[in-house]
Amino acid sequence: MITDESVAFAVDAAVAAFAAASTAADLKLARSAHTGETSLLARLNATLRSVPNDQKAALGKLVGQARGRVNQALAAREGEVLVAEEAAKLGSEAVDVTAVATRWSAGARHPLSLLMEHMSDIFVGMGWEVAEGPELENEWFNFDSLNFDEDHPARAMQDTFFLDPVESHLVLRTHTSPVQIRSLLTRDLPVYVVAPGRVYRTDELDATHTPVFHQLEGIAIDKGLTMAHLRGTLEQLARSLFGDGAQIRLRPNFFPFTEPSAEMDVWQPNAKGGARWVEWGGCGMVNGNVLRAAGIDPDEYQGFAFGMGIERTLQFRNEMNDMRDMVEGDIRFSQQFGMAV
Ligand code: PHE
Repeated sequence: MITDESVAFAVDAAVAAFAAASTAADLKLARSAHTGETSLLARLNATLRSVPNDQKAALGKLVGQARGRVNQALAAREGEVLVAEEAAKLGSEAVDVTAVATRWSAGARHPLSLLMEHMSDIFVGMGWEVAEGPELENEWFNFDSLNFDEDHPARAMQDTFFLDPVESHLVLRTHTSPVQIRSLLTRDLPVYVVAPGRVYRTDELDATHTPVFHQLEGIAIDKGLTMAHLRGTLEQLARSLFGDGAQIRLRPNFFPFTEPSAEMDVWQPNAKGGARWVEWGGCGMVNGNVLRAAGIDPDEYQGFAFGMGIERTLQFRNEMNDMRDMVEGDIRFSQQFGMAV
């Protein structure tokens, strides 16, 4: 029955239910309960059809105004709930830009490792193998087998880290050349091997020296190899690293383990300050005494060897002035190279 009381009751119940709803989902339930087809007001409204004609207008107005109030209360509450929900969401998603970062940043591979692998890959592309040798090396492999005299100055204490006691004949290898002999002793001929790795010398750390550095060694032993093969191989490496215009220049030099020996320079066509020759490493035809130390007959097999510094290569190839940047281990240094050098 439509009466002031029943209508007021319906309105009060609706307004109270809306006020109690604190989320959009709750409010939706309250809305269908108090404004939907089965709500009290809807049902009162439906009874209008059967009231006497003279009361229709007044009762209709009563119910209509009540529905208006309910809809108004609903709209107001919807607004409040929306604002509250947005505020809560913003609060939970807030970022404290002053907070100390807790995320680990991705690391980076060191450019020396990348360059060493890149250079090795160039040789793998020519069918060569990659070999390794120990950094703590027997003096015989580091010197004797490579035809160093007993009193060769490089053996002196100021260049080489000797291990205590001296009678152990152990050194931190001063070059990757001992891998030449190791490769010849462990492989069948012919041998085409590159050996990248770490070497040690008693140098003070400065802009161009470090007591620990890296070299790439190469040795090829086969029948009929000549200096032309050496030169062609180095030119292929140079062009792969420095572009098509790169060239190799050999200048006479001395190494106990090669004869003849040469210092090699590379023509770097794309250098920042203009094309230039840069000293790059040592090379030569493997000395017969080295072959004999590995049990190979030099009349049957010949070959060439070469070695160059990786730090030095990175320095002039990537225009890096200070060697110390390479050893300090600051992740920002490595990160600027990304995944390729
Ligand atoms: N081992 C030499 C060096 O460290 C370089 C070299 C390697 C020279 C192979 C000739 C042949 O200086």
